[in-house]
Amino acid sequence: MKKILYLLACTSLLAACGAETQDSQNEAAHSHDMAKMYKNDQYALKDNEGLQPLTFPKVLQPTTSDGENVAYTLIAQKGTMIFMDGIKSETYGYNGDFLGPTIRLKKGQHVAITLKNDLDEPTTFHWHGLEVAGDVADGGPHHTIKAGQTTTIHFTVNQDAATLWYHPHPMGSTAKQVYKGLAGLMYIEDSYSENLDLPNNYGKNDLPLILQDRTFIDGKIQYEDVANTMSTLGDTVMINGKVNPKLTVAKEKIRLRILNGSNALTYQLQFNNHMKFQLLATDGGFLNTATQMKKLSLSPGERAEILVDLSAVKNSTITLMNGDTKLLPIDLTGEQHVASTSSNQLNDRIIDENLRHKTPDKTITMEGTMNKLVLNGQSFDDKRIDFKQKQGVTEVWEIENAISDEGAMAHPFHIHGTQFAVLSVDGQEPPANLQGLKDTILVQPNQKIRIAVHFKEKGLYMFHCHILEHEDAGMMGQIKVD
Ligand code: C2O
Ligand code: CU
Ligand code: CU
Repeated sequence: MKKILYLLACTSLLAACGAETQDSQNEAAHSHDMAKMYKNDQYALKDNEGLQPLTFPKVLQPTTSDGENVAYTLIAQKGTMIFMDGIKSETYGYNGDFLGPTIRLKKGQHVAITLKNDLDEPTTFHWHGLEVAGDVADGGPHHTIKAGQTTTIHFTVNQDAATLWYHPHPMGSTAKQVYKGLAGLMYIEDSYSENLDLPNNYGKNDLPLILQDRTFIDGKIQYEDVANTMSTLGDTVMINGKVNPKLTVAKEKIRLRILNGSNALTYQLQFNNHMKFQLLATDGGFLNTATQMKKLSLSPGERAEILVDLSAVKNSTITLMNGDTKLLPIDLTGEQHVASTSSNQLNDRIIDENLRHKTPDKTITMEGTMNKLVLNGQSFDDKRIDFKQKQGVTEVWEIENAISDEGAMAHPFHIHGTQFAVLSVDGQEPPANLQGLKDTILVQPNQKIRIAVHFKEKGLYMFHCHILEHEDAGMMGQIKVD
C-alpha cells in the first residue's frame, strides 16, 4: 500500500483538506480514504548528513560556435541512477541520467538548439525565464515533441545576465517528468556581468545549487508512488541530484546560484550561524544594489544569486539551512581562489512610477484548494485564449490569491516569455528581494501583488502556478501577444 504517502500540502496557512484529489476517477476513489491532513513535521525534510561531495552539472559544449552563432544539442532520455544504498531508480535526464547540463549563453548570441526526445512519451523543452517567441521557441505545452522525434529551435538572446532554467512542460505530466529528473540551468551573461567583480569560476566559487525534495521508497524515487495532486513533497533534499552532499570551499567569498527545482516545496534559506549574506540577483537578473539579508524564501521555480563572505567565519564548517533543517553542510577547508572585492552597485533599472498608481489592466485571481485549482474561476483549456496583450506594451497585472470556504495556500505565480517588475505587495512598496526582475512570485493567501508585464516577443504564452501539480491540474491560462 504505497499510496500511504499521500502527503498533503495542507502545511500552508489556512489550507483545509477535503478528501478529493483530482487524479483519475479510480484514483479519486482510492485516495479518498488515504487523504488525511498531515502535520508539517510528517513530511518535513530530514537533515542532510553531508556524506558525499557535492558535484555540479557539466557545462554543455556547443556542437558548433563562432562566438556569435552557437548550436547545441539537448536530448531528453531515460536513465538509471543510484541515489542511495546501491539501489537503482529509473530516471530521466538531459544528455545523461539525471538533470541536465548547464547551458551558458551570452546576450546577443544567435542560438540554435536541437531537441531530441528519446523518452517513450511526449515532452517539451521549456526555457523558464527566457524572453523568446511564444510560438516558436518557448516550449510550452503546445510544442510537444513526440517520442523519438527531433526538432531544432532558433532564438537570439535578448535579455540581461540572469540565471534561468529549463524543464519539460507537457500538458498533465510536467510534474512527473521534472520529478524524474528533467531540469537544468541556463545562464545568460552579458558584457556588464562579465566585468562585475563577483566570483565567476563555475563550480569553484560560482556554484549552482539545484534544490529538489524527494521521497525515497525502498531506496527509489518513483513519482507515481508519492504523487499528490495538491503538492508532492519529499522528506529528503537532493542538491544537484545528490542526496546528503557536502560542499567544500575556502574561507572566501562564494556566489551561490540557487534554483528551487522542487515540485511544490518553498524553502526558507538561512545559515546555521545566522550570518548575513548578500542577495545579488533574482529570477531575471541583478538587483540595483546588493541587499544584505539573513533569511531568504524561495518558492518553486524561483532563483536567487547570493554572495556569501566566508572569510570571517571562525569555525571550519557552516551549514545552509532550510528553517531548522540542515540543507547543505559546508566545509571551509577548501582551496582558495582569486578573491573578488565585489561592488554593491549591480544594476540601474528604473520603474516608471506612474505604473504604481495605474488601475490594473488585467486581474488574475488564484484559487487553489483540494477541490479547485483555478485561475479566474477557470481550469486550463488549450482552446481558450484568456488574455491578449500587445508586444512591447507594458501592462499592470494584479495577482490575487483568494481565500475560499475551503481555505487557501500560497501559490508561486509564473509567466512565460517575460521578466516582470513588482510594483506593489498589498499596496506597499515591495521588499528588497522583490525589487529586481522576476518571472515567478509567491503570492500568499489574501495577498494582492501588482506587477508590470511586457513581452519583447510575440506568440502564445502560459501563465500558471508553479507548484507543478497545480499546473498539471489546470491552474494555468494563456495569453496571446501580438
Ligand atoms: Cu517553469 Cu511554465 O514553467
Ligand atoms: Cu516558464
Ligand atoms: Cu498553486
